[in-house]
Amino acid sequence: NTIGVIFDLDGVIVDTAKYHYLAWKKLADALGFEFTEANNELLKGVSRVRSLEILLGIGKVTVSETEKQKMLISKNEDYLGYITKMNANEILPGAEKLLNTLDALGIHYVLGSASKNAELILKQVNLYHRFYGIVDGNDVSKAKPDPEVFLIGAKKLNLSPEKCIVFEDAIAGVEAANIAGMTSVGIGDKETLKAADFNFNNLTEIPEDFFSKFSI
Ligand code: G6P
Ligand code: MG
Repeated sequence: NTIGVIFDLDGVIVDTAKYHYLAWKKLADALGFEFTEANNELLKGVSRVRSLEILLGIGKVTVSETEKQKMLISKNEDYLGYITKMNANEILPGAEKLLNTLDALGIHYVLGSASKNAELILKQVNLYHRFYGIVDGNDVSKAKPDPEVFLIGAKKLNLSPEKCIVFEDAIAGVEAANIAGMTSVGIGDKETLKAADFNFNNLTEIPEDFFSKFSI
């Protein structure tokens, strides 16, 4: 096929963004500062380590390297507590239908996620086998908005970046797709994701013929 799709995971395919938020909020509470959902937008799409740095910046808290490592472990333990209970009911509305559409059109799709838990999550919700390839937090050294994760995704699809369409719910992810020279589709608040080439509130809003505007 002449085009391919790269999906972000958290907040696009599955509703895990809320679990990341709860786990980070628990840490902020323990450190004694407020961490709002608006603050949380800045962490979406961002690697675990970078998220912690941003969070500590918001709280104006300075901690030792050892302390940071402990925080990363405990955040992930809390997060794992949520995701190991996940099942296919937590696939976001419209996601499976969209994958079916792509399958019918013969358009390959890969995952392009910053998460080191991506494989586990996709297996929990029984979608792992459907992806043509997986690129996740274990494959990259530079976090979104660096385009690395999506450029590796394009390689897996065997396509040049301009033939790739990226679905993203994060500011950092839309930016990464744009820097990569790909078509960016923002899923979520239009104002927050105004840098995207296309915007939809959720995957159910994607028109049946959306992919026909791209040369297939
Ligand atoms: C995704 C999420 C981020 C999360 C990152 C790392 O990009 O949007 O909120 O921090 O993955 O996830 P991990 O599961 O490795 O902690
Ligand atoms: Mg996301």
